[in-house]
Amino acid sequence: MELIITSDYASMNRKAADTISATIKEKPNCVLGLATGSTPVGTYKELVKRNQQHQIDFSQVITFNLDEYIGIGIDLSKPYSQDQSYARFMHEQLFSHINIKRENIHMPDGTAENLEKHCSDYEQKIKQMKGIDLQLLGIGANGHIAFNEPGSSLASRTRIQPLDPKTLNDNYEKFYKKAGIKKEDMPHYAFTMGVGTILESRHALLLGSGKNKAKAVAEAIEGPVTSKITASALQLHPGQVTIILDQPAASELTWSLKLVRENLA
Ligand code: PGA
Repeated sequence: MELIITSDYASMNRKAADTISATIKEKPNCVLGLATGSTPVGTYKELVKRNQQHQIDFSQVITFNLDEYIGIGIDLSKPYSQDQSYARFMHEQLFSHINIKRENIHMPDGTAENLEKHCSDYEQKIKQMKGIDLQLLGIGANGHIAFNEPGSSLASRTRIQPLDPKTLNDNYEKFYKKAGIKKEDMPHYAFTMGVGTILESRHALLLGSGKNKAKAVAEAIEGPVTSKITASALQLHPGQVTIILDQPAASELTWSLKLVRENLA
């Protein structure tokens, strides 16, 4: 596990974009797993800038998003509605600004008729593409990765998951409130890649920003592996794991910070 502590959010995003760019340069038709939420917004901005400056090329890149709310979703062939879908978020933050092919974008559809089949088909599609080369992840204040809420099996696969009250609250404050949507009207279930699915990515890249993530980050990196903090499963990831944090998110680490300080001394 490689741990990188950066001075602030902007440098965390530059480092994350460096890692993603390196993967694309090494394998132009790589499969990227993508995340939503407030954390990766700056990384996506950095990727858009680099793509527009012709430093990276998304023309052969294939993507799979981690999750989506149940009950909302958009038809990518139509103009976006003003919903809170992660599909719309991805198009606004990244896809509509880069030279990615629409057919190479895979997003779960929160309105799929047969959700169980949709989950197994999604896993199947990832397998057909020979797995995920680089999986970008955020971490929830409750330690979740994707929507693998506390208590999710560390071997779990892609499925429909009820949302934890903490997640509902955090996401309501960040996204739904400003859209004028009542809390009781926001979706309470989500489609999510499983922890087991995420552990099959060849390289996992976890980003953490802000003081409100510090406790979850410390538990995930230095605590025991537990389904209460599903990000802790990354300790068991058999491939490469890179964790990039800004200083506030790293502030509750103990021995890792000591090691960093000693090595800088
Ligand atoms: P955030 O969410 O990036 O909006 O903080 C991360 C997550 O819940 O996975």
